[in-house]
Parts: sequence; C-alpha cells; structure tokens
Amino acid sequence: MTADKRIVLSSDHAAIDLRQAVATHVAAKGWEVVDIGPTTPESTHYPKHGRAAAERVASGDCALGIILCGTGQGIMMAANKVPGIRCGVCSDTFSAAMIRQHNDANMLSLGARVVGEGLALEIVDAFLDAEFEGGRHALRVDMIEAETHPAE
Ligand code: RB5
Repeated sequence: MTADKRIVLSSDHAAIDLRQAVATHVAAKGWEVVDIGPTTPESTHYPKHGRAAAERVASGDCALGIILCGTGQGIMMAANKVPGIRCGVCSDTFSAAMIRQHNDANMLSLGARVVGEGLALEIVDAFLDAEFEGGRHALRVDMIEAETHPAE
C-alpha cells in the first residue's frame, strides 16, 4: 500500500488500550496502520513516542499520524517540534475536522484520560474524513512553516 494510505500510531503507557482501539478502527477504514507501540504497560516517556511518530510523517513514510497520551497534550507538544508537523489535540469532532480543513494538520492527538472510546473513534473519523480546503488557508499554513511572515 502506498504512503498516502498509511498512518502511524503511537502513545505512552496511559493510552495503550485506546491506541489499540483506534488501530482496529482505522484499519477497518482501509488504512495501513503502522503501530509503533509501546505494547507493554510500563511507565514510559511521551516525548520519545511523539517524536518517533512525527518523524514517520515528516519523512513521508506515513501520510498521517495519530498519537495519544493521558491528556494528548504532552505528546502533541513533542510531535510539533518536528519540522513539517502540524498536530492538534482534539476532544470534539468539529475541531478534528477543522484542523484538517483549515490547518492541514497531518497528526491528531487524543487524550485517553479525557475522551472515552466512542467519542475518540468519532473524532478519528472526523479527522480522517476531512480534507484540506486550500485557498486562503494555504497562505496561513505556509506562515506556520515560515520563519518570517509577510506584512499584513
Ligand atoms: C502520564 O502520566 C501523563 O503525564 C501523560 O500521559 C500525558 O498526559 C502528558 O501530557
């Protein structure tokens, strides 16, 4: 399967069960899932898992990524340190669609201690089913990536 239908998943220890539910759900939607763990419940460090997933997306190996920790916040912060990554934490379906449509997000972060499995899977659907709208939003996404910004 080509990279445009390949998605990377990772989490810390706080989100292993939800990550596995997301993996099953996303695979059923036709995505090739690259689940980079961890698989055991020992306490671990979310920055390394966020960075590892982000590097798979930034390299082009995977088109998108879904990462999870207790709140979704810490692992999102780590992922966004990788150039080219635009990752948002979502606890609602509207935001999950909008980060794709307006921000061209290439990663979604979920908080396993924030959202239940049912809502999490609806958020995943909203993220995966939305498309970047381009147009005026493309300039703004370019501005996120740029070191200098055009004058207003
Ligand atoms: C782990 O206890 C917790 O800090 C982590 O999963 C995450 O919520 C950090 O942002």
